Amino acid sequence: MSDTLSFPKQRPPEYIKLDGEPKFDASKHLMLEKPDLISSLADLGYSTEDIKNCPSDFGVSSAFRILSDEGVSAMRDICLKMYANRNISVGTGVNRLGSYIRGAGYRSQFIKDFCDSAELSKHLSEIANVKLARHSVPAVACGVNYAPEDIRRAVDSWHTDSVAFDIVMMMSDPSQIEGGEFQYFRGTKMEGQALLGIDGEEGIDTELPAERIKTIPFPAPGYGFMQQGNMIFHRACRLKKKAERMTVIPSFVVVPPKAADGTNSINMAGWDDPGLAAELTRHEAWRAAARLEELVGDVSLHDSRKRLVDEVDKALAPLLALRDRLAKDIN
Ligand SMILES: [Fe+2]
Repeated sequence: MSDTLSFPKQRPPEYIKLDGEPKFDASKHLMLEKPDLISSLADLGYSTEDIKNCPSDFGVSSAFRILSDEGVSAMRDICLKMYANRNISVGTGVNRLGSYIRGAGYRSQFIKDFCDSAELSKHLSEIANVKLARHSVPAVACGVNYAPEDIRRAVDSWHTDSVAFDIVMMMSDPSQIEGGEFQYFRGTKMEGQALLGIDGEEGIDTELPAERIKTIPFPAPGYGFMQQGNMIFHRACRLKKKAERMTVIPSFVVVPPKAADGTNSINMAGWDDPGLAAELTRHEAWRAAARLEELVGDVSLHDSRKRLVDEVDKALAPLLALRDRLAKDIN
């Protein structure tokens, strides 16, 4: 029994399912190692109050090995094959990212099985110090970033993520890449956003003080680092020379589903990936159902009306907020 929500039964018609893939086998394709370095949220300057609102004090790690050589070879091949079916080419619009795939798990069973792997979730949960499972929103459960065709553009500009936990895994040979560094701001996201003069999650391509920026090196393909991505202000720099630069970016949710959830469904509702509104509705309904089930057990006959109303509001708030956001788009 999986800890996370199953994929929907249908697949967005724009997404082409790959055939002839190898079958994912954790014992063959994974080579899980621990990171040498971890920066906590406190290390980055977050207050006790900020950290209390997060599921864990984990901030960001150095790159650690995730895939075996065989795993790298299989996944790199899949990323290259999916390039022709990336989101930008199916009319889902240009956004902050140069060139990318959302919902890779719809196209590739191998990538879906990798993201679903219990071994991977267990390993990442130990690093993040909170129980994680494959993200319940397929669009972000397994993403792939490619360098933009126009290398004057950043691979990804300063931003925080709409999900709480993700790994960024290098699939290309880093020794062949000039530029394209992954960097994060050594400070809180509030401070980083204030320095850039922005307030949302989406970034702009400007510079922060160099002494406050840290680059995370990737020793080889198949290495990735983990971050509490909605708390880490980060970017991927532009390439200095045209080169293959592919990263696989799987995201994770905190489980069980009654746990507090950092997923920013409201922000994601503004993206135009096919099926995403339905995916977000399933995600929020799943989390709300778990909170309601807990409420059934917790309600006491001695509870005041005020408390009962507050508890119902608390259980339903994220689902209703998404409902209201989606309703705005109905003509
Ligand atoms: Fe990101």
